[in-house]
Amino acid sequence: MDLKTIEALPKAELHLHIEGSLEPEMMFGLAERNGIALPYASTQEIHKAYEFTNLQSFLDLYYAGAGVLQTSQDFYDLTWAYLKRCKEDHVVHTEIFFDPQTHTERGVAFETVIEGIHTALADGKEKLSISSHLILCFLRHLPEKSALKTLDEALPYKEYFIGIGLDSSEAGFPPEMFERVFAKARKADLIPVAHAGEEGPPEYIHQALDLLKVARIDHGVRAVEDKALMERLIRERMPLTVCPFSNVKLKVFESLSDHNILEMLNQDVCVTVNSDDPAYFGGYINANFKGLAQELSMTLEQAKKLAKNSFEASFLSEAQKRKWMEML
Ligand code: HPA
Ligand code: ZN
Repeated sequence: MDLKTIEALPKAELHLHIEGSLEPEMMFGLAERNGIALPYASTQEIHKAYEFTNLQSFLDLYYAGAGVLQTSQDFYDLTWAYLKRCKEDHVVHTEIFFDPQTHTERGVAFETVIEGIHTALADGKEKLSISSHLILCFLRHLPEKSALKTLDEALPYKEYFIGIGLDSSEAGFPPEMFERVFAKARKADLIPVAHAGEEGPPEYIHQALDLLKVARIDHGVRAVEDKALMERLIRERMPLTVCPFSNVKLKVFESLSDHNILEMLNQDVCVTVNSDDPAYFGGYINANFKGLAQELSMTLEQAKKLAKNSFEASFLSEAQKRKWMEML
């Protein structure tokens, strides 16, 4: 096992919720800066609270934590801290999700959110040589009407984001509920992606592909339950942005040694490794790679294939993809 070599591979991260990179230390700092009371007495207490039983038990804390984000500077600081972690982990390109409704619902303007994130991403390109794209996620526990309103609010800032996604509570909120907002976004040349098959059944992956016409599936690990779907994913080189640590923390798999990512990789599914919400799930992208090496005996060849897939599955230009893939 060659951990140092694996860690040094250039990688793209394609499944990262910027609100999920809010470390307890920063949560405390921002709460103080903005005069917000937290239900925790210390950062240790926050760490202790991060024991989840399923997706919803995480989302409850994740949305509460995001309440400390108030100003553009807060969103800038959050994004900048993540980009610095990218540099350490040899992430050369990142495609970041943000959840505008989490903020607009509590009175923070869309512009405040996107300006802060965008400015940090521009600085990341210039000062850290990390390229990036931003993807606007709709919260599926809110009605489609709210997503349509959010899209209308976002369209004037279209040059700042490349695509739209769908996240939050999955079971009971199938992709078909968001067909119209996705059609409208596609008409505006936004690239569609969606969380599907994390806790939800394979049917949700079918719907994301057929009704939302997504270019990638986020998570998608439950695809293995449907043989025809697996064949389709392989045939179409449809990428899955898999998040191993997240899946273990949210009890999708009992342990990392039970995870199916390498099984799918070996079947030629275009799977990639991602950190999802690293501040909540115990580590950034290289921690995930390291975990796979240690718990699933991932080889250097497999790690290279995963890194290569991350560029293939990215929304970089074909020339940029080729440049990075040739290094692997
Ligand atoms: N699943 C659904 N919604 C989310 C997630 C996730 O893993 N992380 C942040 N929002
Ligand atoms: Zn996610």
